[in-house]
Amino acid sequence: MTFRYIGSKSRLIDQIIGYIGPPKKGAFFVDAFCGTGVVAEAAAALGWNVRINDNLHSAVISAGARLISQEQAAFKKLGGYSKAISTLNAATPRHGFMWREYSPASLESCGIERRYFTEENAARIDAMRSQIGDWSQAGTIDEAEQRLLIADLFGALNRVANIAGTFGCFLSKWTNQSQDKIAMRCRELKSSSVCVEATVGDVFDVSNCAQDLVYLDPPYTKRQYASYYHILETVALGDEPEVEGVAGLRPWKDRASDFCYKTRALQTLSRLVHGLKAEKVLLSYSSEGHISMPDMKAELSKIGKSTMHPLGAIGRYRPNKVASSAASDVNEFLVVVERPFVQPSKVESKFVKATESLLVEGYA
Ligand SMILES: C[S@@+](CC[C@H](N)C(=O)[O-])C[C@H]1O[C@@H](n2cnc3c(N)ncnc32)[C@H](O)[C@@H]1O
Repeated sequence: MTFRYIGSKSRLIDQIIGYIGPPKKGAFFVDAFCGTGVVAEAAAALGWNVRINDNLHSAVISAGARLISQEQAAFKKLGGYSKAISTLNAATPRHGFMWREYSPASLESCGIERRYFTEENAARIDAMRSQIGDWSQAGTIDEAEQRLLIADLFGALNRVANIAGTFGCFLSKWTNQSQDKIAMRCRELKSSSVCVEATVGDVFDVSNCAQDLVYLDPPYTKRQYASYYHILETVALGDEPEVEGVAGLRPWKDRASDFCYKTRALQTLSRLVHGLKAEKVLLSYSSEGHISMPDMKAELSKIGKSTMHPLGAIGRYRPNKVASSAASDVNEFLVVVERPFVQPSKVESKFVKATESLLVEGYA
């Protein structure tokens, strides 16, 4: 998928896999800041049951969609997956929320001409999202199918968005891709079902037990994902929030992450790792992040045996040319924290298949 996501580990996944190792019977690989879900997907491919969590609905939808199998996305009532996609591509454009707020039509409604999408593409996004919602309400598609279609819509709108990588703001000049007609595509689905639990909520509320392998990939810069991906969140929720400012941000401060503040990041991370029950924790971090690697090592060593493994350079997304030329390659590290047995483990017996998985709301 052509998903432009800050901090995605897609380019490092082959190196991270080596630290995940084979699954433990009954245990979960817990991707507690799942983002795109590329790491959870790799763990699932190794045979792990996976638990995905993020404080953004859009992230959990994207991550969950990666794990859906052919069997779970049969779209029986619509004549199959590709028929569902072609019906959405043919939906009659609607002048709805995306058109009103995120295309040049916004000039009339709020006095600011927002150029995230052409008017035609924005109206198509409105039509597609509303059709998915109608199918879901009518019971024509189930939760897994709905999640898959919303994630496919993310992919489609990313390809035509007039942005420089994130939805933090739109570009003043239209890019060539933004002029293309938006089109959803079928993705390759998994051939067999994976045992998945999905939650949307704060990382401190993610359940885990001693045998689980917890993977932490917190934000490491001041960039708040809730504001950088606000449009995806609105498409995920299918709501019509009051948006503000030139960029048209939905209210996002209730999702502001403590990991994005230099003054709070180390203490928050330490508190998080302290509170986990898992005996083994993997943590991704960058030497360009808020927490210096020596400080992190000193803090985590108080909790358990901590080893740091450089993963080499990552050609990560940079917001602009200046940032690209000024920065040296980012050095990503994987920190392995192992600690003695904490308390008797009780492996959760209730495994939820992806078809039935719950999107437990961590926020009201
Ligand atoms: C570095 S990204 C994870 C990238 C992911 N591993 C991947 O490969 O795509 C950090 C993620 O943490 C999420 N996040 C930030 N603060 C959080 C919190 N307090 N609780 C849960 N998720 C949080 C963000 O929404 C973002 O998706």
